[in-house]
Order: sequence, then C-alpha cells, then structure tokens
Amino acid sequence: MTTIFSGKFGDDLPNIEAIHKRFQEIQKLGIKIYGIHFHCGSGSSSFSKAIDLARECMKIGREYGHTMKLLDVGGGYPTGIIQENILTALKKTKDDPLGYDVIAEPGRHFSANTCYLLFRVMAKRIKQGKLCYHVNDSYYHSFNCLITDGVTFENQNDQFYGVQTSDLTDINITDQQNVSIFGMTCDGADIIANNIKLPNNIEVGDWLCMGGMGSYTIGPKSKFNGMKCTTKVYKWACKIKEQGQKQSLI
Ligand SMILES: Cc1ncc(COP(=O)(O)O)c(C=O)c1O
Repeated sequence: MTTIFSGKFGDDLPNIEAIHKRFQEIQKLGIKIYGIHFHCGSGSSSFSKAIDLARECMKIGREYGHTMKLLDVGGGYPTGIIQENILTALKKTKDDPLGYDVIAEPGRHFSANTCYLLFRVMAKRIKQGKLCYHVNDSYYHSFNCLITDGVTFENQNDQFYGVQTSDLTDINITDQQNVSIFGMTCDGADIIANNIKLPNNIEVGDWLCMGGMGSYTIGPKSKFNGMKCTTKVYKWACKIKEQGQKQSLI
C-alpha cells in the first residue's frame, strides 16, 4: 500500500511558472526559504521524480534570493534492503554541482526490525479443514499495521520468528503447515493471516513471536472491544543485527 501525502501536505504547483510565482510571492513577504523537503510516502515509486523536482526548485528559489542550502529527502524508505530505483534516485544528490546539504527522515527503515511481538494462543481448532489459532492480540491492537500501514502477514513465513511453550521453554518444532491466525476481537475482519506457515504442534497457552514489529504497531493501537494488549518489555541484546547492508549505498 502506498500512502499518498500530497492530498494533505505540500504546495499545489502545477508547472514551472507556478513555482517561479510562489518563490517570488514568498520573497516579497521577506521570508527566505532555507531548502526543500519532500516525503514521498511509504511504498512510493516517486523518489526519482521528487528529487528532480526538488533540484529544480532549488535552482529557481536561488534566482529569487532564497538560501536553498538543504534538501530533506524525507522518510518512506522500506524495511531492510532499499530498492535499486530509490538508491539510483538518491545518488543524484551526491556531489551535486548545485551544492546543498542532504538530510533524511527514515522511520521504519531503522525501527521495524528492532522489535518482536510476543502473543499467546488462546484457542485452537480446525475450521473448514484448516488449522486456526485464536490469539490474544488483534488487528485493532499491535497488528493495526494491517489496517493503517497496508502490511500483510499472508505467506510472510520469515516474519514468524519462533514459539515458546507456556512454561517458556523452546518448542520442538516438528511439522509446519499453513494456518490461519485470528485476532481476539469479535470482528470477522480481525484476521492476522489466513495463510502463514506455523508448527502444527503449538498448544493453547504457547507464545508466538513475530519479527519486524517495531513500526506503526503499538503507537496507533486501540482498546476496541474493551480489550487491552501488549506490555512493553525492553531487552537490549547488545548487538544490532545487520540487515544485509554493510556499507554506505550512496
Ligand atoms: C514527515 C515524515 N517524515 C518521516 C516519516 C517516517 O516515515 P517512514 O517510517 O515511512 O520512513 C513520516 C511518517 O509518517 C513523516 O510523516
């Protein structure tokens, strides 16, 4: 899912003439603009277009006496490896003869893989021939990223990190199969995943652990159905796990 920011934020300037006019108006107000900020939005493929337009604005702004020394390339960078098209776009700002400083506001890129969510199996049954686990978290609680952020756990088997029995010993994982994980609320839409591979010897009371839960999870969670969830437990593991990027990419 792509979050569209321009419907709410930013200026509406349909062409180059309008950009000239806007910088001129701001100049007349005695305001000096220091730089340009954009936020493409998570999942966006518009980074290249945004950088080209921002550079154009830097040039035009300087014509009207604006400082134009900073380019803020915002957030929206994905979890884990950043795609080639985004890197190619960002490279345009490196050693740019226009001369400006570049800053960014990455959120999920840093935070998503820093947290795991532990949740518990409350009930287990076979429905329409399929194994289903009902758990003590939901679409309206820590898994609200399914609604607000377009995240999906369908077939995301590598997001499933592990399982512990109710007395906190590691479970001996035998066979795995495609299961459904249902959230705890009364809403029929409260389905965390309809197809995700989990061990089939998980019992009621066992804990499931899901990775990649450090962004847009507990912030917007609600108390829908009068239910609370998730206590934060901070545990510093001393070492930040590498995400596959060992050196600067731009
Ligand atoms: C202005 C701005 N910068 C940065 C971010 C971080 O976004 P992300 O976590 O997608 O990188 C947001 C998120 O909404 C934002 O609004």
